Amino acid sequence: MNILVVGSGAREHILLKTLAQSPTKSTLFCCATSIHPGILQWTTTSAVVDIRNVEAVLAQALTWKINLAIIGPEAPLEQGLADLLLQHGILVVGPQKKSAQLETSKGFTRELCKKHQIPGTPQYQFFTELSGALPFLQTLGEGNYVVKADGLMGGKGVKVAGEHLHSIEEAFQFCMELYGKGLSFVIEEKLVGQEFSLLNFCDGERLFPMPVVQDHKRAFAGDTGPNTGGMGSYSDANHGLPFLLPAEIEAAQQINESVRKALQEECQEPYRGILYGSFIATKKGVYVIEYNARFGDPEVLNLLSILDCDFVELCTSLARGSLSSDQVRFKNLATVCKYAVPVGYPDSTPTPASFCISQVQNKDQLYLGGVHEDEGKLWATGSRTVAVVGIAPTISQAEQIAEAEICRIEGPLFHREDLGTPTLIGHRISMMERIREQGLS
Ligand code: AMP
Ligand code: GLY
Repeated sequence: MNILVVGSGAREHILLKTLAQSPTKSTLFCCATSIHPGILQWTTTSAVVDIRNVEAVLAQALTWKINLAIIGPEAPLEQGLADLLLQHGILVVGPQKKSAQLETSKGFTRELCKKHQIPGTPQYQFFTELSGALPFLQTLGEGNYVVKADGLMGGKGVKVAGEHLHSIEEAFQFCMELYGKGLSFVIEEKLVGQEFSLLNFCDGERLFPMPVVQDHKRAFAGDTGPNTGGMGSYSDANHGLPFLLPAEIEAAQQINESVRKALQEECQEPYRGILYGSFIATKKGVYVIEYNARFGDPEVLNLLSILDCDFVELCTSLARGSLSSDQVRFKNLATVCKYAVPVGYPDSTPTPASFCISQVQNKDQLYLGGVHEDEGKLWATGSRTVAVVGIAPTISQAEQIAEAEICRIEGPLFHREDLGTPTLIGHRISMMERIREQGLS
């Protein structure tokens, strides 16, 4: 079997490693905008192509006689890469363009949930022009709004009241800025609570949930600083999270099921790929923050680290539309993933800096992201650089492993020391206890 992975971040590094570990021996290939040693280690051949150029990716796939393709990032999904590969008889993990709107258009997803009366939708309005935006901001009230650009914005399209927007005027300015760029946008109620990710394998008919994970978007300790692609994440041995009730996870999964069904009705095509619900548990219950149509990064590093089944078989069955629950298993272990990122990330584009991983003890649990190799040295190229994963019976033990390892990386990088510690998790538990009480009163 010839398998193609599209993309070359830490997500694709662990995808390739997990495919390589399968007893179903296959030959692995990669197409990406840049290739680094973590990808080269696991592939027979790789090629540098613009992965938004779907014809170029197809040409490589045909040359390499690919049987199965796994699409890592969202940009090629938006360009219809899955549609094109399917037309050429290649099995694909990743939804077609119409269904990928679940991620590529925030307006599409909110309207889908409203039309199908799916719970967990905050008050919102979708704007294709400016009229009505100011009155709606005023209706939500000062401090209670979020403005979201409708489209893939690389994490820079969402501004939240009290964090990035300090008055209704400033929020309206942002709406005008988006409108000026020709973008539609969503204004919605600001939700307060704890966020979590609930990813599913979807074979077009059925969902197979993965353990729940919590990502950490803020750059600095104590959830301060700018939003990032995700500084790290953890999952618990029981596949829940310490601050969540089983009923909250159940409610989120019910929403995922309803969204899959609604999407099938609207798009009239099977969704074969990863359906990733991003949720927030609030005093009024569980709400949807957004959907993604791919594996989350860093969440995939937690999840594939405890996968306890044949990943090639899983992906093949998913892409054929015949996945069964005995093909999807995870170990009962906790995981903590921490990213080291360049000093200055995410606000400035740091100049490439070399870093060294020779002191890291378990390189098996180290994944390269925004990295290139030159003359035997690794260089951080600007985005999230390198992730380590600790795996242990408890979150606290996994955190200690991850923290010790990340401290062994030498270079001008930083990470979140607090991520996964008992103190931070304790804060999350007490916040949820407080807000659940408010909900009852
Ligand atoms: P998104 O790109 O939609 O995931 O938004 C990025 C981040 O903005 C999320 O991880 C949340 O922290 C925050 N966010 C998005 N929507 C809301 C909302 N309605 N209320 C509060 N925070 C939000
Ligand atoms: N963990 C956030 C993302 O992958 O979008």
